Amino acid sequence: MKHIISCEQFDRVYLDHLFQLTDDIMDKPEKYMHSLDGKVIATMFFEPSTRTRLSFEAAILRLGAKNISTENAQEASSASKGESLEDTIRVLSGYTDGIVMRHYDKDAAVRAAVVSSVPVFNAGSGSGAHPTQALLDMYTIHKCGKSFDHLSVAVVGDLLFGRTVHSLIKLLSVYDHAIIYGLSSSHFALPKEYIDYLRKHNSTYIPCRSFDDLPEDIDVIYNTRTQLERFTESDLAPREFVVNKKIMSRFSDNTILLHPLPRNAEISTDVDDDPRALYFKQAHNGMWVRMALLYDTILNG
Ligand code: NCD
Repeated sequence: MKHIISCEQFDRVYLDHLFQLTDDIMDKPEKYMHSLDGKVIATMFFEPSTRTRLSFEAAILRLGAKNISTENAQEASSASKGESLEDTIRVLSGYTDGIVMRHYDKDAAVRAAVVSSVPVFNAGSGSGAHPTQALLDMYTIHKCGKSFDHLSVAVVGDLLFGRTVHSLIKLLSVYDHAIIYGLSSSHFALPKEYIDYLRKHNSTYIPCRSFDDLPEDIDVIYNTRTQLERFTESDLAPREFVVNKKIMSRFSDNTILLHPLPRNAEISTDVDDDPRALYFKQAHNGMWVRMALLYDTILNG
């Protein structure tokens, strides 16, 4: 049985297969609408979510499965009575054919997988990982016709706590020689473990302090919000690197702008109709990628 825990588990062959399957599901959704008939899949969210939970739930329903859900699991499940995550998952895996879970603990998905008798899908674990987001980010890059080898990507904003950035970095490392520009304030710099990971996988990491430091023909700008919920220190003042029309005018027609959403002020709404601004497309792609992931994992495990 396979769990979807971290981007370290993926290789080129698997990613090619998953993205081809996503293309096929997107082209012919009717072919897949009964593929998970009779299955029950749980969505357990211990942290807030809009896109991840609802796109997973839409994906579950579009494949013909049924969904049971706890959207506010920290208060509305027995976690509020002190039940351990392990006990909750043991019980839930007896009711279902798969568990989609978001949790504030970095190690929660691994802990759940150890005790679960059905596949666990990590829908975000603390500041650690968000593998299904990274898959939809890469799929969006693929849909633009870009090659994954030698890709140049600026990750922008909260590189310290941003789990989407952490997972994207691991996924980019699957391919040949990514060049990653890290644009953040010093308080929110990328942790050393990810810089080391990139180097180990023959990618280049270049820390930056301004959009002026980025090449004008960079492939992808990936902006993120400051993860305010993950820190309390008052000296860590949030610092947004705001992308607006003027900033976008510095970059080539082939530079795409991504964001996992939700955004705060870091992308000005005046770029929403720029054809290079793909964050809403990216969010829509999430449902199709998650359909492919559920289909492949639950049927072919
Ligand atoms: C992200 C998350 O939850 O990590 N959102 C998402 O899943 N689309 C990013 C964020 O909350 O900033």
